[in-house]
This record gives sequence, structure tokens and C-alpha cells, in this order.
Amino acid sequence: METNLSSYLSANRDRFEREMVDLLRIPSISTESQYAESVAECADKIAADLRAVGIDEVEVVATAGNPIVVAQRIVDPAAPTLLIYGHYDVQPVDPVELWDSPPFEPTERNGRLYARGAIDDKGQVHMHIKALEARLATDAGLPVNVKLVIEGEEEVGSPNLALFLAANAERLACDAVVVSDTGMLGKGVPTIATGLRGLAYMEVHVQGPAGDLHSGTFGGGVVNPANALASIIAGLKDQDNRVTIPGFYDRVRDISDADRKNMKQLPYSDEAFMAETGAPELDGEKGYTTLERIGFRPTLDVNGMLSGFTGEGAKTVLPARAMAKISMRLVPDQDPGEIEQLFTDHVMRLAPTGVTVEVRPHHGGWPWAADPSHPVFDAASAALNTAFGREPVYMREGGSIPIIPLFEQTFEAPVLLLGFGLPGSNLHAPNEWIDLETYHLGIETIARFYDAVAERMG
Ligand code: BES
Ligand code: MN
Ligand code: MN
Repeated sequence: METNLSSYLSANRDRFEREMVDLLRIPSISTESQYAESVAECADKIAADLRAVGIDEVEVVATAGNPIVVAQRIVDPAAPTLLIYGHYDVQPVDPVELWDSPPFEPTERNGRLYARGAIDDKGQVHMHIKALEARLATDAGLPVNVKLVIEGEEEVGSPNLALFLAANAERLACDAVVVSDTGMLGKGVPTIATGLRGLAYMEVHVQGPAGDLHSGTFGGGVVNPANALASIIAGLKDQDNRVTIPGFYDRVRDISDADRKNMKQLPYSDEAFMAETGAPELDGEKGYTTLERIGFRPTLDVNGMLSGFTGEGAKTVLPARAMAKISMRLVPDQDPGEIEQLFTDHVMRLAPTGVTVEVRPHHGGWPWAADPSHPVFDAASAALNTAFGREPVYMREGGSIPIIPLFEQTFEAPVLLLGFGLPGSNLHAPNEWIDLETYHLGIETIARFYDAVAERMG
């Protein structure tokens, strides 16, 4: 088996890359409705690719939103079953003028393929498809059953997936869930993510006078909504960068000694982190390291603000309205619904008189932490070790995949986050890329992972 699988992977590298390019050409942006047709095309493309590699049962399921691709190959009802989850939808490309090559014309530069969705998450979904191909096309065969759920609404909070999972819990029953939608600590450092932050995303609207006013005739005589919003935002964090919302930290777990010990030996440096950001200084909650701040502590950030005159030159105007979008990243055991309420109450307390303040919640998500004692983690570790030639590290991610806790609950199965994104891959930003060497090692890892699972969970 061994030589056959390895030689198949190396003989087909170029073709795999070309096929990934075809997938990345489709502008499957879920947040903008004018791309609905491309989103549907992308679902069909994933389905066709799965059929082409020998996954016999493939269905594109319509939902109230974007379609979900569901597929399976059952080799032996007695063998362990893996459920692979990923998403084919992508983020918008704006600001498009900052891309060095068009976002949907995948371009290779220095061993990287640049395109929107290259790493988040179409490129990583593609690794799974190619790993399945490599097993099914060679005498290696497939030693486990696989089911796949590839959705098109992850980037908009998976509004239709929960219903789908609940309605199909039996059909999708599995022994472990595998998701490749996270990152690695560095190139050549295989990484298993053991946690994700949750999310509460809010909008604060401040209304002052009935319409915009002359800032000379009226300025100083009425409350300015932009000033009022600035003071509300300033009141949400203190000098130590702690969130001031009463009760915000009540359910936050302490960092365990084992987690601290693990973090100490990770190949991580603040210098590299700083270089990646281009920020002049690192900052965050007092008393915590960067890895702790991002993996283990909650935070609050303004994502966008809108008010008044922002065009060229100076227009003397007192705006009638101001708005901010504010996200809070949550950690176990914070409850996004409760945090939304605490946030709203606190903003109302901070609101000055003389303006009307309204708080609107967007989609949220629960935080999640793994129990890495399950054998599926050992299986992943072995496969990563074989492919990358090095033991994987365990690390908590700061990002969110809000649907993950629901997979765990619905199937009473562990979730394994086996991600291959490198630091600086620009997900959600201009010039997103996937490292091609890591792409191939990812395919090899997944292809070997099936054996490791069969050995340990059979
Ligand atoms: N794949 C990311 C989440 C992620 C990024 C995990 C980096 C670990 C490291 C996912 O597609 C994503 O972007 N999630 C959103 C939340 C969603 C509700 C829009 C996020 O984290 O902002
Ligand atoms: Mn993603
Ligand atoms: Mn994303």
C-alpha cells in the first residue's frame, strides 16, 4: 500500500493544484446576495469533485439560504466513521484594489497560491477531496467510512446548518468530526487546535438631532452623537484593557497549569507575531501573555464605525447619527446570549442623556475547548508526525467557528481541528494565500490519518 499511495501523491501534485485553482475561481461570497449564483455553482462543483474521486452518495441539499453538500462513502458498517465538515463560502474581497492579483484569478508566487478562499476554506476542503481520491484510486483503499458536510454559510454564522444537523442527526452519525479550517503555529509546525473563541457581535446606534446640523450654529448646544458614541466605547474597557461590563468575566475559566506549561514550550515569539501584524506594539489585557490573550481570554473590539462627514476637505457639520459594530470574542464558559444582554445593559448605562441609543445583536457563537484525551487526537498526531516529520503542537485558536459545539453535541462525538493555514495567510484580507508545500503535506496527513483512525478506533 505504502509505496503506491506515496507515488500517487507525488505523481499528481501538479494536477491537484490545477484542480484547486478551478475551485478557487468561483466567487462564492456568501455575505453579498449578488453572488448567489456563484455560491450555488460552487456547491455543484464540490459535489462533482466528490463524485469524480469515487464518493458514491453525493447530494446538494437546498436550504432557506445556500446549499449544503452532503456526501458519504460507507466501506464497512463496522468500521469507524469520520464526519468531515468544511465551508465553500468565502468572505468579500474588499478593498479589491489592495490585491496584487485578482482575488478570483488564482496566481502562484513564491510557492504560494493567492486567491480569496485559498486557505479559508476552499483550499482546505480540497485537501480532503484529494486525500480521498488518493486512497480510492490506489490499492491503499479507504479503511474508514467517511461522511462530508460542506456548507456555504459559515462566513455568515451558519444560519441554516443547525436545523439541517438536527434533522439529519441519524444519517450523519459518526465517531469523530474532522474540520480543517484553522491554522498552524508556523511553517513546518504541525498543529492541532484545541480551542476556539466564541463570538457576540453587536451594533450600537446613537441618534441625536433630527438631522445633521451646522456645527457652528448648533455645536456646543446639543449632544453630538459621534462624541456620545466615542465616550460609550471608551467606557467599555479600562486602563488595563479589561472589559468593564459587569459580570463579563464571571464564567471565564482560569488557565490551568497544564495549559501554561504547554504554552511555554511552543515555538512562538512575540517578535514574529508583531512582524506578522505590522503593528508598532503589542497590547492587551494586563497580566497575560499574547498567547494567553488570544487563546484563553475574552476581548472586545470595535470592528467599524460610521458617523458624520468623512469625505475630502472639511465640512463643518454636527452629525445626527453615529454607529459602531463591536465584537466580543468569548472563551469557555461564557454564554453568548448572556454576554449580549450584559453588553446591552452596560451600554445603556454608559449612554449620556440627550441622545437615543439602540443596541442590536448580530449572530453569535459559543466558545469551545477540546478534550484531547480521545484517541482521534492520537491518530491525528501520528499522521501529522509521519507527514511533517515532527510531533504536532497543541494550541488554542483565537478565531471562531460557531457551529463546532453543535457538532459535538449532536453526534456525541469529539471534534478534531486539523488545520493547515500558516501565519500571515491573510484570511478575510487582501492577498489571501495557501502555501503549496503545506497543501501537499496536508493531503498526505489526511490520507494517512484514516489508517491511524482505523488502528485506534476500529
Ligand atoms: N476559519 C475561520 C475561523 C478561524 C480563523 C479559526 C483562524 C481559527 C483561525 C472562519 O471561517 C471564520 O472566519 N470565522 C469567523 C466567524 C464567523 C461567524 C464569521 C470569525 O472567526 O470571525
Ligand atoms: Mn473558515
Ligand atoms: Mn472565515
